[in-house]
Amino acid sequence: MVTTRIAPALLALSVLVFLVFGLGTDGHAQYRGKTVIAHRGASAYAPEHTAAAYTLAIEQRADYVEQDLQVTKDGQLVCLHDLTLERTTNVKDVFPGRSRTLRREGRDLTGWHVSDFTLAEITQLDAGSWFDPKFKGEKILTFQEAIDLVRGKAGIYPETKAPEVYGSIGFDMEKLVMEVLAKNGLDKPGADPNTPVVIQSFSAESLKKMAKDMGVTLPLIFLVTDRDRDTWLAKERMGEIKTFAAGIGPAKELISGKPEIVTWAHEAGLSVTPYTFRSGNQPADRTVRDEMHDFLYTLGVDAVFTDNPDQFPRK
Ligand code: G3P
Ligand code: CA
Repeated sequence: MVTTRIAPALLALSVLVFLVFGLGTDGHAQYRGKTVIAHRGASAYAPEHTAAAYTLAIEQRADYVEQDLQVTKDGQLVCLHDLTLERTTNVKDVFPGRSRTLRREGRDLTGWHVSDFTLAEITQLDAGSWFDPKFKGEKILTFQEAIDLVRGKAGIYPETKAPEVYGSIGFDMEKLVMEVLAKNGLDKPGADPNTPVVIQSFSAESLKKMAKDMGVTLPLIFLVTDRDRDTWLAKERMGEIKTFAAGIGPAKELISGKPEIVTWAHEAGLSVTPYTFRSGNQPADRTVRDEMHDFLYTLGVDAVFTDNPDQFPRK
């Protein structure tokens, strides 16, 4: 009798969970179905990591907008892919004498290092003209400015870039990220249903620190590049990854070269989010939309990082 009353209740609960979280469609709770992440914003069409690129990504219905994070001399998180400023700003013109060579990630890196500039100096830079003169005046955004811009309209997807580099000069990058998220009330899963948060890193140590030492409960994605393929993208390593991450984010070539990685990850309860899909690097008879479609619906990945969110195939 009790069983006959409980069974319908459990069924109803399962249906509710399915409807709310999309569980059962992809089995990975950090996503609600197939998901598109705007890589550095809609960076095929606007200068990466600027307000223009983030705003366009939202207009193109990105589920998440990505922020690569660096740390300024005065300890502020800013949205920039590179450790140095010269590729995407006019820093050479504004601060001509400030380039120097530093040992970074096992090599000498010459340039205008973000960590040599205060936020006040960085805000003087033009981050738009390099891409197209019509974007002149776009600025490097702080992480806080990125949150303010995206919040309520899409999720945010910060990446701890080179946390070991910043650790070596006295910055605790993971702490800085979590402090900003906590200040915004975004440091717990589901805190703002309109602004889900996923954190990513190429550094297993950075993710382990957040998951195990800091007690971070937000979904963490372990990015894997070709260099670390043989170390991590093996069936027997998936269980270990699951101890510190909710999913893997391999370079897309690693997935197409070994599609069984998707099955191994899913069997371990890990999502799969390959990078980076962009127009112009497909075979002549394929488009970026075709390529994303193949990965999502044939290879079975859960989400994609793309420079072209408008080309995301919504089946
Ligand atoms: O974070 C996913 C993808 O962005 C990794 O590559 O070098 O563009 O940060 P990268
Ligand atoms: Ca990134």
